[in-house]
Amino acid sequence: MADFSRPPGTMDVLPEKSGVWQWVEAKAREVFDLYHYREMRTPIFEHTEIFERGVGDTTDIVQKEMYTFTDRGGRSLTLRPEGTAGVVRAFVEGKLYGGTLPGKYYYLGPMFRYEKKQAGRYRQFNQYGIEVIGSDDPRADAEVIELADHFLKELGIRHYRLELNSVGCPTCRSDHKKLLLEHLTPIKNELCTDCQSRFEKNPLRILDCKIDGHHPQVLTAPKITDHLCEDCSTHFDAVKGHLNALGVAYVITPTMVRGLDYYTRTAFEFIGTELGAQSTIIGGGRYNGLISMLGGPDLPGVGFAGGLERLLLTVDEAREQELAADRLDAFVIAMGDAAMDFSVKVLQLLRKNGIRADMDYAGRAFKAQLKLADRYHAKVALIIGDDEVEKQSVTLRDTTSKEQQLVSIEELITALQK
Ligand code: HAM
Repeated sequence: MADFSRPPGTMDVLPEKSGVWQWVEAKAREVFDLYHYREMRTPIFEHTEIFERGVGDTTDIVQKEMYTFTDRGGRSLTLRPEGTAGVVRAFVEGKLYGGTLPGKYYYLGPMFRYEKKQAGRYRQFNQYGIEVIGSDDPRADAEVIELADHFLKELGIRHYRLELNSVGCPTCRSDHKKLLLEHLTPIKNELCTDCQSRFEKNPLRILDCKIDGHHPQVLTAPKITDHLCEDCSTHFDAVKGHLNALGVAYVITPTMVRGLDYYTRTAFEFIGTELGAQSTIIGGGRYNGLISMLGGPDLPGVGFAGGLERLLLTVDEAREQELAADRLDAFVIAMGDAAMDFSVKVLQLLRKNGIRADMDYAGRAFKAQLKLADRYHAKVALIIGDDEVEKQSVTLRDTTSKEQQLVSIEELITALQK
């Protein structure tokens, strides 16, 4: 049997929901622009290596979640599971490192991960994100985090906390890794299969595993923040200092290490405190090795991305309803064929003058058309019958006061603008 339903893990945004989507997207662009980030649009699919190398081959994303296919030319391509690797690839390929640094970029668009179905988790989901490439200044980390905080506040979202950590650099991580492996080896066999397979390659991830994170031996594991090298420690202190100065509240969370391999130093997550299991609304951090790993110069980077679907779950219901409303400035009500034909021209005139207007094309009776004007919250109804056609006029009805007046077509726009 043919399956005409949408694929699992995808969603349709129907018109009554698209208002709130457009509002959030417009706010994101507005705030990104305010902080001088410029839009970057990269392909929805990339060569698979970009993500294998960039995101990391020990991650869940690369091991289990990518939509990878071979195209007709025999290339292995992958639908992007996240935005950072593609932005960095475009930065390197477009030689943007030759321009003014740091480069500050933003993106909005769909991402794809074959995840287990769960509330707040989709297989096609939408991210908004920013990246700063070419600065190691802790003030850049603070700007990225403060921007995320500013954006959430602009949307009226209040119930969240910011978790902050430093995951160090390859130098401090290798010392910490030795201690961590010593500490965890006695319980290796008790760990979940994912953690056993990441045991040697990426033991840090065991600390924030949903299953093993609560094991008493994991809870007492050496913390990366106690083993940072001097440079990473100074950097982390400076990030905290700038956030304090900017009045951005955070909780230091040494077990939060994020699910992508490219992070170095700063890692952070904004957690919605009224959301269920999938509560991370924004995640990000610094990725100093990624640009050179993807063939570019040795430049540092920092950024974040957030999921639109999850964010929308936290938007105030009253706001959502207001944005769902279907509103018109004017609704044209016509009776008879000649009036309908005249209405078509009236509509054109209205729209050319920036007045949002519509008419009925379903042959409804006069009363039903008046009801439609109400349903669309039209400020005025423009009634047209044979009389109006003859006089090249319309009867302008104020839908609130119910007052009516005859207005000639020449004077209509001026009358409406009043
Ligand atoms: P991420 O933590 O994998 O980071 O994803 C960022 C956000 O995307 C999550 O916090 C969540 O809100 C949303 N998200 C992820 N997967 C799903 C899903 N299956 N369904 C719905 N929402 C989802 C990154 O993607 C990094 N590229 C962020 C970054 C940018 N780091 C530095 N620059």
